[in-house]
Amino acid sequence: MATKKQTAIWEELMQKAAGYREAKVILLGADLGIFEALCQRSLKASQLAKKLGLAERATQIICDALVGMKYLSKKDDVYHLNPSLVPFMDPESQDSRISSLRHTAGSEMNWARLGDIARGKIKDPSKHRQVLSDKRKNQDFILAMHQNNPARAEEMAEAIDLDGCASLCDVGPGPGHYSIALARKYPKLQVALVDHANSLEVARAFVGQQPARISKRFTFVEGDLIKESCPDWGGPFDSILLSNVIHIFDSKNNKAAIKKLGRQLSPGGFVIVRDFGIEDNMTEPPLASLFAVNMLAATKAGRCYSANEVKAWMTTAGLVKIKKTVFYPSYLVQGHAPMKKGKHQPNQIIDNLD
Ligand SMILES: C[S@@+](CC[C@H](N)C(=O)[O-])C[C@H]1O[C@@H](n2cnc3c(N)ncnc32)[C@H](O)[C@@H]1O
Repeated sequence: MATKKQTAIWEELMQKAAGYREAKVILLGADLGIFEALCQRSLKASQLAKKLGLAERATQIICDALVGMKYLSKKDDVYHLNPSLVPFMDPESQDSRISSLRHTAGSEMNWARLGDIARGKIKDPSKHRQVLSDKRKNQDFILAMHQNNPARAEEMAEAIDLDGCASLCDVGPGPGHYSIALARKYPKLQVALVDHANSLEVARAFVGQQPARISKRFTFVEGDLIKESCPDWGGPFDSILLSNVIHIFDSKNNKAAIKKLGRQLSPGGFVIVRDFGIEDNMTEPPLASLFAVNMLAATKAGRCYSANEVKAWMTTAGLVKIKKTVFYPSYLVQGHAPMKKGKHQPNQIIDNLD
C-alpha cells in the first residue's frame, strides 16, 4: 500500500506530466496566429479560421480551451483577447513579446522530436530546426533574446565593468540588446556585432531604433565563430562578449573558439563568457539541466557547460586573471589577455563567489 508521501510525489509527477496540455494550447494560440488576429479584432471561430487558413472545428475547440484558461473570453460566439494580454501580443506594441512566445512554440516543436533523438533516429536535430531555414522564425528567435526578459539588458550592463575599454566585440549578439545597454553606460564605447547575416539583419534593425548617439557607434560584421579560423572582425578589441552562445556547440569547438577570441584581444583586454550556470555534476540547478535538454532538442552537440569548463578553455587559451561571477541563473567568466605579448603572466584564478 503506497504511503501518503509516495502518493503525493506520484500526484505531483502526474500533474507535471499533464502540463503539456495547457502549454500546447497556449503555444498553438501563438503559432497559429490566433492571439495576434484577436489583437486587431474580436472574431467568431468561422471568421478566425477563414482569416488564418485553419480548420473551423479545430479553431473553435482550441479557442474554447483558451477561454477556459481565461486568456480569451467568449460572448455570442465571438472570441475576445483578454485585454491584459494585448500589449504583449500586439507585434506593433513597444511591450510586444509575441516573438518570444512564438519562439517558445518553435522550441516545443524541437522537443517533440526528443524521442527520435534519444532513439538515435535523428543524429543532427539542427537540420530540423526551422530557425535556421525560415527567416521569420529566426527573427522571432533573435527578438526573443530581448523579449524573454527586457529588464535583463540593464542588469547585464550593471554586472559588466568595461572601465578603460574603448571597444567591445559582441559575438552572437542576438538583437544586440546587451551591447546597447553597455553603449548607454559607456558613452565612448565602440561596438562591433559579429553574427550570421540573417541574425545581423535583425540586430541592425533593433540597434537602428536607438538614438543616433548610440547606434552610430555600432558596426555590423558578418562572421562565424566556429567556421572562421583566423577571423578579421576589425580587432583587436579591448573586450569581447560571448553571451549564451557556447551552449550551441560541442566542447572541442568551444575550446577552439575561446582561443580564437583570445587572439582578437588587445594586451590586457578580456573575454567575458556568459551562459547558464550549471554545476559540474550537470544536474543542478534544474533550470540549467532542463536547458541542456533544450540544446539536445535543437543542436547536434550543444549542452550546458559549467563555469569550471569555461575556465579550463580560457587557461588553455593562455588567458589570465580568470574569474567567475554569478549572474543568476547564469555565470560570467572573464579572462584577460596577458599585458605584454609573449610575456605570460602567471595564471591566477580568482573565484569571488564559489
Ligand atoms: C542564444 S542567441 C544569444 C544572443 C545574445 N548573445 C544573448 O545572450 O541574448 C545565440 C546567438 O549566436 C548567434 N550564432 C549562432 N552560431 C553562431 C556562429 N557560428 N558564429 C557567430 N554567431 C553565431 C545566433 O545568430 C544568435 O545571435
